[in-house]
Amino acid sequence: MSSPLRLGVNIDHVATIRNARGGNHPDPVDAAKLAVKAGADGITAHLREDRRHISDNDITRLCNEVNRPLNFEMAATDEMLEIALGHIPHAACIVPEKREERTTEGGLDVVSGYDRLKPYVETLVKAGVRVSMFIEPDPAQLDGAKALGAPVIELHTGAYCEAMGANRERELARIIRAAEHAEKIGLECHAGHGLTFDTVAAIARIPSIAELNIGHFLIGEAIFIGLEQSIRSMRQKMDEARA
Ligand code: PXP
Repeated sequence: MSSPLRLGVNIDHVATIRNARGGNHPDPVDAAKLAVKAGADGITAHLREDRRHISDNDITRLCNEVNRPLNFEMAATDEMLEIALGHIPHAACIVPEKREERTTEGGLDVVSGYDRLKPYVETLVKAGVRVSMFIEPDPAQLDGAKALGAPVIELHTGAYCEAMGANRERELARIIRAAEHAEKIGLECHAGHGLTFDTVAAIARIPSIAELNIGHFLIGEAIFIGLEQSIRSMRQKMDEARA
């Protein structure tokens, strides 16, 4: 049976534009409030080690000023763990992070990274944070996330979004199989990265996916149609596909 599909709006790139000039405009917290008005169920923000977009103060303000759950994207580092424990966001999505990458390229390897990741997952779960692992749609990675004790996984949709034609169909089939596997082993399944108006419907149709996290396209599209309309249109495409 299909469950409702939540939309988490990632506001990182509002901060990217703000930081280009070093001032306060545009304010990612104001963007988060507008996202809620436009139909976002939650707000996602990635505090990167190099603070290239979201700042520590943005995270504090998102926790204090926005009345929707915050999904705190973080690398598994002691610094980020301390910040997460200082705020206790609704959710924390553990992502791989390389300083030189442009965005989160590929999922975490939770199988080979088990020993390193285990203390972070355990500490966050104990603190009451809903932990998700950002992984490739590979059953072995899902089993690894389950073994780590994470209740949620987020499937990386980047390869699906970048592929064309038959390759895209193959990538979609991998995501569908992974979402089915998540349901079978009792993991809540989220998905995200690179989703657009053109690629969202096929993912939204997968009944066991509970949440999509979408950022870059929504902020880019806001240049042409405004942020509120960009989010409303995405929400509508998700809802139509899920119905
Ligand atoms: N989910 C995760 C775990 C991410 O790291 C990102 C990018 O920050 C997204 C979703 C959103 O991706 P995009 O900005 O391409 O929509």
